[in-house]
Amino acid sequence: MKKQQLSEFNKTERPVFHLTPEKGWMNDPNGFSWYDGKYHLFYQAYPDGTNWGPTHWSHAVTEDFIRWDRLPDALVPDRAYDIGGCFSGTALTDKNGRHMLMYTGCWPDQNNQQGFGRQIQCIAFGDGTTYEKYDGNPVITGDMLPEGGDPYEFRDPKFWQEADGTFRAVIANHNKTHGAQILLFRSSDGLKWEFENVLADGEGKPGWMWECPDFFPLDGKYVLLAGTMGEVESVCRIGEFDSEQGIFHETAWQTTEQGFDFYAGQTVSAADGRRIVIGWMQNPQTAENREVDLPINGQMSIPRELQLRDGMLLQKPVRELNDYRTDEVIYRNVKLGECAEEIKLDGISGRTIDMEISIEPSERYELFRMRFAADAEHYTEFTYEPDGSVITLDRSHAGPGKTELTKVQTAVRDRSGRLDVRILLDRLSAELFINDGEQVMSAVIYTDRHAEDITFYVKGAAVMDIAKYRIKENK
Ligand code: FRU
Repeated sequence: MKKQQLSEFNKTERPVFHLTPEKGWMNDPNGFSWYDGKYHLFYQAYPDGTNWGPTHWSHAVTEDFIRWDRLPDALVPDRAYDIGGCFSGTALTDKNGRHMLMYTGCWPDQNNQQGFGRQIQCIAFGDGTTYEKYDGNPVITGDMLPEGGDPYEFRDPKFWQEADGTFRAVIANHNKTHGAQILLFRSSDGLKWEFENVLADGEGKPGWMWECPDFFPLDGKYVLLAGTMGEVESVCRIGEFDSEQGIFHETAWQTTEQGFDFYAGQTVSAADGRRIVIGWMQNPQTAENREVDLPINGQMSIPRELQLRDGMLLQKPVRELNDYRTDEVIYRNVKLGECAEEIKLDGISGRTIDMEISIEPSERYELFRMRFAADAEHYTEFTYEPDGSVITLDRSHAGPGKTELTKVQTAVRDRSGRLDVRILLDRLSAELFINDGEQVMSAVIYTDRHAEDITFYVKGAAVMDIAKYRIKENK
């Protein structure tokens, strides 16, 4: 990786309002927490290459979820028990005011070449800048797994403390007979742990292994998030938690991402009570070897505020993004459908933007189409067909960045042709929030950043309102 290349990248290509690694590879968010007056986010990183390698916990802090400052790596794989990688985990503040991390140590096993290696759970303590691994590591091992639990697929602890001081953790595991399962452990001091219960299993849900579980209260319910290895990337289960018994009663489930690129979502409880999730904005199946010549590979999603409405999860970009809006362009009642071609509107273009559009049918329309990151040859396309109420995101014309995952389609709530979309573009990505956050579609795109056009087309007749902003680098 040449320095020159990195400095050029920093000036012109690096995303402006999404967290990216300084160089090299990034995957899951880890240890998202409020500590010593700041939000801390660690992430799986391999700084020495742009494909996955034994992971470090790189570290960044923010006060507003948009501007991040990088700190030195908090954990590096330097012990026999984590030499294969310091895998994903979480953080909390202990009773002595220390920042306490729980992560998975992975150690390659000569006798078992399948997968990454044997996986155990470890602790580290720190002061917000430097971290030391606990001498008594590991604190949870494969010997503690219930019947059928695979010690080679046992990772990503999410731990927290209850009001009475008890520690609990949910950890992902593959069961040789039942498939994906999320296990609940408990501890009185955070260091000596015991297995408590199988909190959830994958029965009837997608995924062979549910990675990076998060479990938290939200609007009177409990939510279990997990990354599902397979076609659908993220699943959210909603229900009640019987804390005494350690039992989760599921009442509903849904997928949390309808696009291509959102995985391993992890939440923080913000100082003002909001529950905010951030995810790795990539598809784990296609993240490596994308054949793009950039000094980084990986970025985080925009942090999303979570809410339950009528038993469904809603996700919206953190409100702090609004403070970075500038150069407002507003259109009201733009008539679409009068022209057989795509139309462009003055001032509606760009690759670091936040744009809200609302479409209303005039009589009836068959298709709404928006193309963005477009030039004469390239575009990414979002369409809505009111008949069937279907949205589609298609990046097959986005240019560089080989991937087989180019088109996704999903049904949205039928609102008689009305549709609201908020779209965030940040040089290497697009995130679309549909109908007030009922659905979200994320896409990494490597289209040349000069492809800035945005066009609209309607088959039939509809009217559209637009509010568009450029996102500036500093408030
Ligand atoms: C998910 C994951 C985790 C694991 C980490 C390793 O992307 O596979 O399960 O802890 O990545 O980097």
